[in-house]
Amino acid sequence: MREDVARILISEEELQQRIRALARQIEADYAGKPLLVVGLLKGAVNFMVDLTRAMQRPVAIDFMAVSSYGASTESSGIVRIEKDLNDSIEGKHVLIVEDIVDTGLTLKYILGLLNRRGPASLRVCTLLNKQERRLVDLPIDYIGFDVPNEFVIGYGLDYNQIYRNLPFIGVLKPEIYMSEK
Ligand code: PRP
Repeated sequence: MREDVARILISEEELQQRIRALARQIEADYAGKPLLVVGLLKGAVNFMVDLTRAMQRPVAIDFMAVSSYGASTESSGIVRIEKDLNDSIEGKHVLIVEDIVDTGLTLKYILGLLNRRGPASLRVCTLLNKQERRLVDLPIDYIGFDVPNEFVIGYGLDYNQIYRNLPFIGVLKPEIYMSEK
């Protein structure tokens, strides 16, 4: 698996350090308020687990799974809900946790959907932000790292469903995805 990585972009240590800082910031911002953290499957799982574990306050957690139609490495903006939230978010303070915001189309759809359900507040925390690829304007409240427009994998991010369990963010060797086209 590691032999397919061209280079490490964000090390395990850098990830964990930044995640602890984000947890402190979120704790301060939501002080005195109940918080529901919503992770988007599957990519956000690693980040969601480490982020909530770094918080020293109670949080409720829930998950949604969505998939975009179209080619596997490109977002189309048409999103299908594969698993919805278990509970109502009406009147709740909701923080969506994402692994990466790329074009922003997935998140735009989800923000629209969840906003219509009447949460008390709705914010977004993404580990990675690929600003260069953004197609829609989005409010992102917490960003772990800005990343260049390269094929990033690891720590939840996949290529063909693998590499998610790498403990760091790496850049995939181009020959891996070129050879399968
Ligand atoms: C990835 C990622 C975001 C979305 C970002 O999910 O987790 O949800 O793409 O792309 P966008 O900003 O261009 O919409 P993916 O559909 O690959 O599913 P996964 O989380 O199961 O890997």
